[in-house]
Amino acid sequence: MSAPADNGVGTGVRAPKRARIAERTLRTDRWWLQPLLTVLGLSAFIIYATVRSFVRTAYWVPDYHYLTPFYSPCLSTSCVEGSSHFGHWFGDLPGWIPLGFVVLPFLLGFRLTCYYYRKAYYRAVWFSPPACAVAEPHAKYTGETRLPLIIQNVHRYFFYVALIVSLINTYDAITAFHGKTGGFGFGLGNIILLGNVVLLWAYTLSCHSCRHVTGGRLKHFSKHPVRYWIWTKVSKLNTRHMALAWTTLGTLVLTDFYVMLVASGAISDLRFVN
Ligand code: FES
Repeated sequence: MSAPADNGVGTGVRAPKRARIAERTLRTDRWWLQPLLTVLGLSAFIIYATVRSFVRTAYWVPDYHYLTPFYSPCLSTSCVEGSSHFGHWFGDLPGWIPLGFVVLPFLLGFRLTCYYYRKAYYRAVWFSPPACAVAEPHAKYTGETRLPLIIQNVHRYFFYVALIVSLINTYDAITAFHGKTGGFGFGLGNIILLGNVVLLWAYTLSCHSCRHVTGGRLKHFSKHPVRYWIWTKVSKLNTRHMALAWTTLGTLVLTDFYVMLVASGAISDLRFVN
Protein backbone atom coordinates (compact mmCIF):
# COMPACT_ATOMS: atom_id res chain seq x y z
CA MET A 1 0.00 0.00 0.00
CA SER A 2 1.48 3.30 -1.02
CA ALA A 3 1.75 6.32 1.22
CA PRO A 4 -1.01 8.92 1.03
CA ALA A 5 -0.30 11.91 -1.13
CA ASP A 6 1.54 14.50 0.91
CA ASN A 7 -0.63 17.59 0.70
CA GLY A 8 1.25 19.36 3.43
CA VAL A 9 0.25 19.73 7.04
CA GLY A 10 -3.41 19.10 7.75
CA THR A 11 -5.47 17.30 10.33
CA GLY A 12 -5.64 13.65 11.33
CA VAL A 13 -2.49 11.75 10.41
CA ARG A 14 -1.06 14.92 8.87
CA ALA A 15 -1.51 16.99 12.00
CA PRO A 16 1.69 18.83 13.01
CA LYS A 17 2.37 16.70 16.06
CA ARG A 18 1.80 13.33 14.39
CA ALA A 19 4.74 11.14 13.43
CA ARG A 20 5.67 11.40 9.75
CA ILE A 21 5.25 7.83 8.55
CA ALA A 22 5.70 7.30 4.84
CA GLU A 23 3.75 4.06 4.67
CA ARG A 24 0.00 4.36 4.54
CA THR A 25 -0.18 1.44 6.93
CA LEU A 26 2.17 -0.95 8.65
CA ARG A 27 -0.52 -3.59 8.87
CA THR A 28 0.30 -6.81 7.08
CA ASP A 29 -3.03 -8.61 7.55
CA ARG A 30 -5.90 -8.51 5.07
CA TRP A 31 -7.40 -5.34 6.57
CA TRP A 32 -8.97 -4.47 3.21
CA LEU A 33 -11.17 -7.56 3.17
CA GLN A 34 -13.89 -6.26 5.47
CA PRO A 35 -14.34 -2.92 3.65
CA LEU A 36 -14.43 -4.81 0.37
CA LEU A 37 -17.10 -7.23 1.57
CA THR A 38 -19.07 -4.31 3.00
CA VAL A 39 -19.12 -2.41 -0.26
CA LEU A 40 -20.04 -5.54 -2.22
CA GLY A 41 -22.87 -6.40 0.18
CA LEU A 42 -24.31 -2.89 0.28
CA SER A 43 -24.03 -2.49 -3.49
CA ALA A 44 -25.82 -5.79 -4.10
CA PHE A 45 -28.67 -4.76 -1.83
CA ILE A 46 -28.99 -1.28 -3.32
CA ILE A 47 -29.06 -2.63 -6.89
CA TYR A 48 -31.62 -5.30 -6.04
CA ALA A 49 -33.87 -2.97 -4.02
CA THR A 50 -33.74 -0.25 -6.67
CA VAL A 51 -34.64 -2.59 -9.51
CA ARG A 52 -37.45 -4.24 -7.56
CA SER A 53 -38.87 -0.93 -6.38
CA PHE A 54 -39.26 0.30 -9.95
CA VAL A 55 -40.43 -2.79 -11.85
CA ARG A 56 -44.01 -2.71 -10.53
CA THR A 57 -44.58 -6.39 -11.14
CA ALA A 58 -45.03 -9.44 -8.92
CA TYR A 59 -45.27 -7.60 -5.62
CA TRP A 60 -48.68 -8.83 -4.49
CA VAL A 61 -50.11 -12.35 -4.21
CA PRO A 62 -53.91 -11.92 -4.33
CA ASP A 63 -54.70 -15.48 -3.22
CA TYR A 64 -52.79 -15.23 0.05
CA HIS A 65 -52.48 -11.46 0.49
CA TYR A 66 -48.69 -11.48 0.48
CA LEU A 67 -47.30 -7.99 -0.10
CA THR A 68 -43.58 -7.36 -0.47
CA PRO A 69 -42.17 -4.81 1.99
CA PHE A 70 -40.70 -2.81 -0.91
CA TYR A 71 -44.23 -1.81 -1.95
CA SER A 72 -45.75 -1.25 1.46
CA PRO A 73 -47.79 0.78 2.03
CA CYS A 74 -49.10 0.94 -1.54
CA LEU A 75 -51.18 4.10 -1.53
CA SER A 76 -51.73 4.88 -5.19
CA THR A 77 -54.42 3.91 -7.68
CA SER A 78 -51.54 2.48 -9.71
CA CYS A 79 -51.25 -0.33 -7.13
CA VAL A 80 -52.82 -3.64 -8.12
CA GLU A 81 -56.22 -4.38 -6.66
CA GLY A 82 -56.14 -5.54 -3.06
CA SER A 83 -52.59 -4.40 -2.33
CA SER A 84 -53.57 -1.02 -0.87
CA HIS A 85 -54.20 -1.97 2.75
CA PHE A 86 -54.52 1.66 3.77
CA GLY A 87 -56.54 2.99 0.85
CA HIS A 88 -55.64 5.20 -2.09
CA TRP A 89 -54.13 8.49 -1.02
CA PHE A 90 -52.77 9.27 -4.49
CA GLY A 91 -53.91 8.90 -8.07
CA ASP A 92 -51.94 7.13 -10.78
CA LEU A 93 -48.18 7.58 -10.49
CA PRO A 94 -45.77 7.86 -13.43
CA GLY A 95 -43.43 4.91 -13.90
CA TRP A 96 -40.41 6.73 -12.51
CA ILE A 97 -41.98 6.98 -9.06
CA PRO A 98 -41.80 3.74 -7.04
CA LEU A 99 -45.17 2.65 -5.67
CA GLY A 100 -43.70 2.49 -2.17
CA PHE A 101 -42.44 6.06 -2.50
CA VAL A 102 -44.06 7.29 0.72
CA VAL A 103 -41.78 5.35 3.04
CA LEU A 104 -38.80 4.41 0.87
CA PRO A 105 -36.98 7.75 1.43
CA PHE A 106 -37.43 7.39 5.19
CA LEU A 107 -36.24 3.80 5.20
CA LEU A 108 -33.26 4.80 3.11
CA GLY A 109 -32.59 7.70 5.48
CA PHE A 110 -32.92 5.44 8.51
CA ARG A 111 -30.33 3.02 7.15
CA LEU A 112 -28.02 5.68 5.74
CA THR A 113 -27.83 7.54 9.04
CA CYS A 114 -27.67 4.37 11.17
CA TYR A 115 -24.63 4.41 13.43
CA TYR A 116 -23.52 0.99 12.23
CA TYR A 117 -23.95 1.71 8.51
CA ARG A 118 -22.10 4.98 8.94
CA LYS A 119 -19.14 3.11 10.29
CA ALA A 120 -19.42 0.61 7.46
CA TYR A 121 -19.59 3.04 4.56
CA TYR A 122 -17.21 5.58 6.05
CA ARG A 123 -14.66 2.79 5.97
CA ALA A 124 -15.66 0.97 2.82
CA VAL A 125 -16.68 3.85 0.56
CA TRP A 126 -15.08 7.04 1.86
CA PHE A 127 -11.96 5.42 3.37
CA SER A 128 -12.30 7.71 6.34
CA PRO A 129 -10.41 5.77 7.56
CA PRO A 130 -10.53 2.44 5.69
CA ALA A 131 -9.45 0.49 8.79
CA CYS A 132 -7.74 0.88 12.12
CA ALA A 133 -4.15 2.03 11.69
CA VAL A 134 -4.63 2.68 7.97
CA ALA A 135 -4.28 6.34 7.00
CA GLU A 136 -7.15 7.88 5.13
CA PRO A 137 -6.50 9.62 1.80
CA HIS A 138 -8.24 12.84 2.88
CA ALA A 139 -6.06 15.72 3.99
CA LYS A 140 -8.59 17.01 6.51
CA TYR A 141 -10.96 15.47 8.97
CA THR A 142 -14.05 17.42 9.99
CA GLY A 143 -16.12 14.58 11.36
CA GLU A 144 -19.87 15.16 11.28
CA THR A 145 -19.70 18.83 12.16
CA ARG A 146 -20.41 20.27 8.70
CA LEU A 147 -22.69 19.76 5.74
CA PRO A 148 -23.44 17.23 4.43
CA LEU A 149 -22.48 14.91 7.29
CA ILE A 150 -24.05 17.05 9.98
CA ILE A 151 -27.37 15.78 8.58
CA GLN A 152 -26.53 12.42 10.18
CA ASN A 153 -27.84 13.92 13.40
CA VAL A 154 -31.43 13.59 12.20
CA HIS A 155 -31.18 9.83 12.70
CA ARG A 156 -33.50 9.88 15.72
CA TYR A 157 -36.33 11.29 13.58
CA PHE A 158 -35.88 8.56 11.02
CA PHE A 159 -36.10 6.17 13.96
CA TYR A 160 -39.59 7.43 14.83
CA VAL A 161 -40.74 6.93 11.24
CA ALA A 162 -39.14 3.47 11.20
CA LEU A 163 -41.34 2.54 14.16
CA ILE A 164 -44.43 3.44 12.12
CA VAL A 165 -43.12 1.47 9.13
CA SER A 166 -42.53 -1.54 11.37
CA LEU A 167 -46.15 -1.31 12.51
CA ILE A 168 -47.27 -1.21 8.87
CA ASN A 169 -45.14 -4.25 8.03
CA THR A 170 -46.59 -6.03 11.05
CA TYR A 171 -50.09 -5.30 9.79
CA ASP A 172 -49.12 -6.66 6.35
CA ALA A 173 -47.75 -9.83 7.92
CA ILE A 174 -50.91 -10.40 9.98
CA THR A 175 -53.18 -9.68 7.01
CA ALA A 176 -51.27 -12.31 5.06
CA PHE A 177 -52.73 -15.13 7.15
CA HIS A 178 -55.32 -15.46 4.44
CA GLY A 179 -56.65 -18.58 2.79
CA LYS A 180 -57.12 -19.00 -0.94
CA THR A 181 -60.86 -19.27 -0.52
CA GLY A 182 -61.03 -16.70 2.26
CA GLY A 183 -60.73 -17.02 6.02
CA PHE A 184 -57.56 -18.15 7.76
CA GLY A 185 -54.67 -19.55 5.78
CA PHE A 186 -51.04 -20.31 6.50
CA GLY A 187 -48.11 -21.10 4.26
CA LEU A 188 -44.35 -20.80 3.92
CA GLY A 189 -44.82 -17.20 2.80
CA ASN A 190 -46.31 -16.37 6.19
CA ILE A 191 -43.25 -17.73 7.97
CA ILE A 192 -41.00 -15.64 5.74
CA LEU A 193 -43.08 -12.47 6.14
CA LEU A 194 -43.33 -12.97 9.89
CA GLY A 195 -39.63 -13.74 10.31
CA ASN A 196 -38.79 -10.61 8.37
CA VAL A 197 -41.04 -8.46 10.55
CA VAL A 198 -39.67 -9.88 13.80
CA LEU A 199 -36.12 -9.16 12.66
CA LEU A 200 -37.07 -5.70 11.43
CA TRP A 201 -38.45 -4.95 14.88
CA ALA A 202 -35.28 -6.29 16.46
CA TYR A 203 -33.15 -4.09 14.20
CA THR A 204 -35.32 -1.03 14.82
CA LEU A 205 -35.50 -1.48 18.59
CA SER A 206 -31.77 -2.16 18.81
CA CYS A 207 -31.15 1.32 17.35
CA HIS A 208 -28.85 3.59 19.36
CA SER A 209 -31.55 6.26 19.27
CA CYS A 210 -33.95 3.81 20.87
CA ARG A 211 -31.45 3.32 23.70
CA HIS A 212 -31.38 7.06 24.16
CA VAL A 213 -35.16 7.41 23.98
CA THR A 214 -35.68 4.71 26.60
CA GLY A 215 -32.86 5.44 29.04
CA GLY A 216 -31.16 8.65 27.99
CA ARG A 217 -30.91 11.77 30.13
CA LEU A 218 -31.87 9.94 33.31
CA LYS A 219 -29.84 10.94 36.32
CA HIS A 220 -31.13 8.19 38.58
CA PHE A 221 -32.11 4.87 37.07
CA SER A 222 -33.52 3.85 40.47
CA LYS A 223 -36.21 6.51 40.16
CA HIS A 224 -37.31 5.20 36.75
CA PRO A 225 -37.42 1.40 37.13
CA VAL A 226 -39.61 0.79 34.07
CA ARG A 227 -37.49 2.90 31.74
CA TYR A 228 -34.38 1.32 33.24
CA TRP A 229 -35.74 -2.17 32.62
CA ILE A 230 -36.60 -1.31 29.00
CA TRP A 231 -33.19 0.33 28.54
CA THR A 232 -31.39 -2.81 29.74
CA LYS A 233 -33.34 -4.94 27.23
CA VAL A 234 -32.73 -2.48 24.40
CA SER A 235 -29.05 -2.31 25.35
CA LYS A 236 -28.74 -6.08 25.12
CA LEU A 237 -30.34 -6.00 21.70
CA ASN A 238 -28.09 -3.10 20.76
CA THR A 239 -25.00 -5.32 21.08
CA ARG A 240 -26.38 -7.26 18.09
CA HIS A 241 -27.11 -4.18 16.00
CA MET A 242 -24.50 -4.84 13.34
CA ALA A 243 -25.65 -8.44 12.88
CA LEU A 244 -29.26 -7.29 12.70
CA ALA A 245 -28.38 -4.60 10.18
CA TRP A 246 -27.02 -7.24 7.80
CA THR A 247 -29.58 -9.92 8.62
CA THR A 248 -32.49 -7.61 7.86
CA LEU A 249 -31.00 -6.65 4.50
CA GLY A 250 -30.99 -10.38 3.77
CA THR A 251 -34.52 -11.02 5.04
CA LEU A 252 -35.87 -8.05 3.09
CA VAL A 253 -34.42 -9.47 -0.11
CA LEU A 254 -35.55 -13.00 0.75
CA THR A 255 -39.09 -11.83 1.51
CA ASP A 256 -39.35 -9.77 -1.65
CA PHE A 257 -37.82 -12.54 -3.75
CA TYR A 258 -40.21 -15.16 -2.39
CA VAL A 259 -43.24 -12.93 -2.95
CA MET A 260 -41.98 -12.22 -6.47
CA LEU A 261 -41.63 -15.94 -7.26
CA VAL A 262 -45.10 -16.78 -5.96
CA ALA A 263 -46.78 -13.70 -7.47
CA SER A 264 -45.24 -14.35 -10.88
CA GLY A 265 -46.29 -18.01 -10.83
CA ALA A 266 -42.70 -19.25 -10.94
CA ILE A 267 -43.38 -21.35 -7.81
CA SER A 268 -46.42 -22.19 -5.70
CA ASP A 269 -46.58 -21.23 -2.06
CA LEU A 270 -46.10 -24.20 0.24
CA ARG A 271 -49.43 -24.24 2.10
CA PHE A 272 -49.97 -25.74 5.54
CA VAL A 273 -53.56 -24.54 5.99
CA ASN A 274 -55.91 -23.76 3.09
FE1 FES B 1 -28.67 1.78 13.50
FE2 FES B 1 -30.30 3.55 14.67
S1 FES B 1 -28.24 3.20 15.04
S2 FES B 1 -30.76 2.06 13.16
